[in-house]
Amino acid sequence: MKTRPRINRWTEARRELLFGDFSLKSLVQPHFVVEGSNVDNPVNGMEGIHQQSVDVLIETVRKDVEHGLTAIMLFGVVEQSDKDENATKASDTTSHLHEAIKQIRSEFGDTIVIMTDVCLCTATNHGHCGLVEHGHIVNDASVDRLCEIAVSHAQAGADYVCASDMMDGRVSAIRHALETANHTSTGVLSYSVKYASSFYGPFRHAADSSPEFGDRSTHQMNINSGYGEAVLEAQLDESEGADIIMVKPGLPYLDVLRKVADCVNRPVAVYNVSGEYAMVMNSAKDLDSRKELVCEIMTSFKRAGADVVVTYHAREIARNAWMQ
Ligand code: PBG
Repeated sequence: MKTRPRINRWTEARRELLFGDFSLKSLVQPHFVVEGSNVDNPVNGMEGIHQQSVDVLIETVRKDVEHGLTAIMLFGVVEQSDKDENATKASDTTSHLHEAIKQIRSEFGDTIVIMTDVCLCTATNHGHCGLVEHGHIVNDASVDRLCEIAVSHAQAGADYVCASDMMDGRVSAIRHALETANHTSTGVLSYSVKYASSFYGPFRHAADSSPEFGDRSTHQMNINSGYGEAVLEAQLDESEGADIIMVKPGLPYLDVLRKVADCVNRPVAVYNVSGEYAMVMNSAKDLDSRKELVCEIMTSFKRAGADVVVTYHAREIARNAWMQ
């Protein structure tokens, strides 16, 4: 089966995230998971965001849940010595990321929506989002690896596997792989419209995923490409069976978000990325002025058509009750 509309209705937490009024429950808090125990490292350039080992992560998630957050996105940060050209660690079911998925699922059950990043860039030794042959990122072999990673996350208990790599054809391949492995209630969130943006800088420190050579312009979308390209990418992913369509970055592409939201029949997410977060944190040091900025930004996403916002601001919004 290509599209299973029931996936988005499977749990109450999913229904609230995707179909409820725009609220705290529409926000997704990203987390960076590292190996070890008792690790809580602040991320350079992203005040308030830490790389955490599973034990610390669980406590952080518990507090966030107490404050009303119900959705998370997990990024596994891989030790340099564990990286290789095949991104082996990314699908290693004994990894700290897989452990985090399992523990959060067993601790919080279906009351939380667990999204996991599916890409190769954090686990390849060259930092690219795909496998590299003769200096080029090859598409179809990369998709095979993405499928293995996606299935391993589903097996650990993810609600949505989130393809952020921008290879062609990966959504249908991942859907097919999930079906074959009998993960019929696991959804695919696709980073459908993802630009080769300069706004990802701080994230690449947090995830240790900068490319060692070249850039991401052979797969991520050109920032000068028009609405036609954005609509094409979004509709392709929809036809391949994506359960959620994402636009990224957010603020510089609100117009694109509107276009995409108007042309697909699936819930739409926007990623308020690390560079956007850093701009706000650097320009509004006190809580009151930050509240105004952050709430205005969230309103703009909603107005432009987002059902879901992935944002590093989620925790602060929840803890200070800036949104209900
Ligand atoms: C992995 C990935 C990236 C982000 C999310 N998933 C970085 C990239 O594409 O280079 C960026 C998120 C952010 O900047 O907050 N491919």
